[in-house]
Amino acid sequence: MTIAALVPFYRWELAFHVMSIIAWMAALFYLPRLYVYHCQVAPGSVESARFKVMERRLLKQIATPAMISSWFFGILLILTPGAISWSAPWWWVKFVSVIFMSGFHGALSKWRKNFLNDQNTKPERFYRIANEVPTILMVIIVIMVVVQP
Ligand code: HEM
Repeated sequence: MTIAALVPFYRWELAFHVMSIIAWMAALFYLPRLYVYHCQVAPGSVESARFKVMERRLLKQIATPAMISSWFFGILLILTPGAISWSAPWWWVKFVSVIFMSGFHGALSKWRKNFLNDQNTKPERFYRIANEVPTILMVIIVIMVVVQP
């Protein structure tokens, strides 16, 4: 299903989609890094309290609104005639990678709550490795949608 009335807005949808994903990626690249530093301070300490504020603001005021906006303009693009073909393999690789990216966002939210309640049990090394996930997914997504192999 597509909506012909969206065609004149295609370029605007693309522009707001790209702005949204830039903000979303910035937050998803930085949040695991905060968790790495948070592992280095004692639960209940002043430093830990400061990290809790930074993590809440980054997730609630940037990451989540940017994810919602990425999906909103992404779905508008899907509904715009000619933007994608459901039979194109590149589109499926992109779409599945975006689902994983959204899942990773959910995991970051769950890990934040563990830190908030001083119940984090994962080591610093775990978050260093987790930090690579959004980068790898972003590389796959951008190659798929720009090169369309
Ligand atoms: C959140 C769900 C998302 C949906 C539903 C979605 C959907 C789409 C659609 C339908 C297009 C238009 C394709 C075209 O006209 O060629 C597009 C363009 C684009 N998407 Fe997404 N996308 C999503 C997330 C992302 C993410 C997470 C990234 C990057 C990390 C991304 C990067 C891009 C880029 C760079 C373009 C512009 C491609 C171009 O103009 O050549 N998208 N997206």
